[in-house]
Amino acid sequence: MKEKKGFTIWFTGLSGAGKTTVSRLVQDRLRERGIMNVEVLDGDVVRTNLSKGLGFSKEDRDTNIKRIAFVCNLLTRNGVPNIAAAISPYREVRDYARKEIKNFVEVYVKCPLDVLVQRDVKGLYKQAIAGEIANFTGVSDPYEEPLNPEVLIESDKETPEQSADKIIAKLEELGYLPPVPKQDVYSEEEEAKIKKRLEDLGYL
Ligand code: ADX
Repeated sequence: MKEKKGFTIWFTGLSGAGKTTVSRLVQDRLRERGIMNVEVLDGDVVRTNLSKGLGFSKEDRDTNIKRIAFVCNLLTRNGVPNIAAAISPYREVRDYARKEIKNFVEVYVKCPLDVLVQRDVKGLYKQAIAGEIANFTGVSDPYEEPLNPEVLIESDKETPEQSADKIIAKLEELGYLPPVPKQDVYSEEEEAKIKKRLEDLGYL
């Protein structure tokens, strides 16, 4: 049997930038392509089980990311495509994940802070700015941008669908996903020509 290809799509970006939304869309797109066994490791979810009890110091965040990377590596090496969606603010530990995991696709979901503060889906930025949450990424804690991500998403300028398209295209380009064969579409005129030719040849 042909060996299935595992890969890790590693989302990084500030809270509320759209990592979860786009990762879910990518999961849907992969399923539409017949890749049903896609695992998603979302920061918010991981922190309720695998990383329960961890806080937001650099040390705890790095532990969180190393745990996620550990699971992604297990999945990828067994041919299970997977998606990690955590802020992962520190470059060094992201690079560690890249080294650990084969077939690593880094996706930077970029969004200006003022847009995030305006959106404030979870109401956390308001609290962070008011000083009610300490060490909040982008407000009172660092975020180190990826220098060379495989995919750059600008979530204030593109729709989640466009972002998902970009990621799928990159997966095809990298050979992790077979391209969908383009369907030939003929114009009416071309179709008539083909029909006539087939008739002339006696096929119709
Ligand atoms: S990471 O830094 O360790 O990668 P992770 O993605 O798991 O972070 O968790 C981030 C989520 O935790 C945010 O989306 C937000 O809902 C919540 N959160 C709570 N406190 C903080 C904080 N101080 N900084 C960032 N996110 C926080």
